Amino acid sequence: MTDIRHFLDLDKLPSGTLKDILALGDSEKAGNAPFGAKPLAGKTLALIFEKPSTRTRVSFEVGMRQLGGDVVILDADSSQLGRGETIADTARVLSRFVDAIMIRTTDESKLLELAKYATVPVINGLTDQSHPCQIMADLMTIKEHKGKLEGLKFAWIGDGNNVSASFIHASPKFGFSLDMACPAGYRPNQGLIETASAEGGKVRMTDMDSALADADVVVTDCWVSMGDEDADARMEALAPYQVNSAAMAKANKDAIFMHCLPAHRNEEVTDDVIDGPQSVVFDEAENRLHAQKGVLLYCFNGLPS
Ligand code: CP
Ligand code: NVA
Repeated sequence: MTDIRHFLDLDKLPSGTLKDILALGDSEKAGNAPFGAKPLAGKTLALIFEKPSTRTRVSFEVGMRQLGGDVVILDADSSQLGRGETIADTARVLSRFVDAIMIRTTDESKLLELAKYATVPVINGLTDQSHPCQIMADLMTIKEHKGKLEGLKFAWIGDGNNVSASFIHASPKFGFSLDMACPAGYRPNQGLIETASAEGGKVRMTDMDSALADADVVVTDCWVSMGDEDADARMEALAPYQVNSAAMAKANKDAIFMHCLPAHRNEEVTDDVIDGPQSVVFDEAENRLHAQKGVLLYCFNGLPS
């Protein structure tokens, strides 16, 4: 079981492996397919969605087809998962039919349960706690626009949510520093920051002005994530953390603006910023496809020698 190449979270894989996965995605994007034209011919990926998705669903489906493979999509409502079949039994059954499983779910315990009982690789397509595929795409995008990751300063502004947690995981692996400005009650788990710092990550909680000062990359996400029930309280607490032109003016002049999308325009980010010249959000969305082709190749085939 331990030799199965899961993609569960960025803190669970060595830095070198993550960099190699990104390089695989870069090669696929550049048209230099290291495993040939259709390396996943005859392979099937199951996609389980217990929450909505546009980018994750389409990018995994298109990516698999471009690599020669196929997908089967299960929504909780239209499968027996929605009627209470256990994750463990679902893992054991799907493993008899498919070659890998991607899951978007609520609590990460479900992801880990799936990985425990599956005999094929499991990929995290977002949980309440993290979103590692998104951050692989983000890192690919930043590298394209800035030429490097190491030594850059990222500013995370707003809710200390699942996406921010994967940025924290990535900091020690890729050598960027991460300043986070999040209101009380909506900060990321302090344990995550301590663990990343112990591994050499430069992550700190700070105020918005300090986070933005000298930032090369400004990132935010929605204030109310899927499954959050305290929408009114969130909107009030997070209102001062809007990324608008005044906020962008505090970052480096050539800073890029990122957002995993979907955006709630004129809440966490104003139209002029997300549609402005510093925004790279659609490159970022496109790179879900390319970065995940690297993840798929790693999970199915391993890394090229
Ligand atoms: N960013 C992202 O994961 O988008 P979807 O929810 O549309 O998959
Ligand atoms: N934080 C958001 C990300 C969506 C891709 C959510 O979990 O809803």
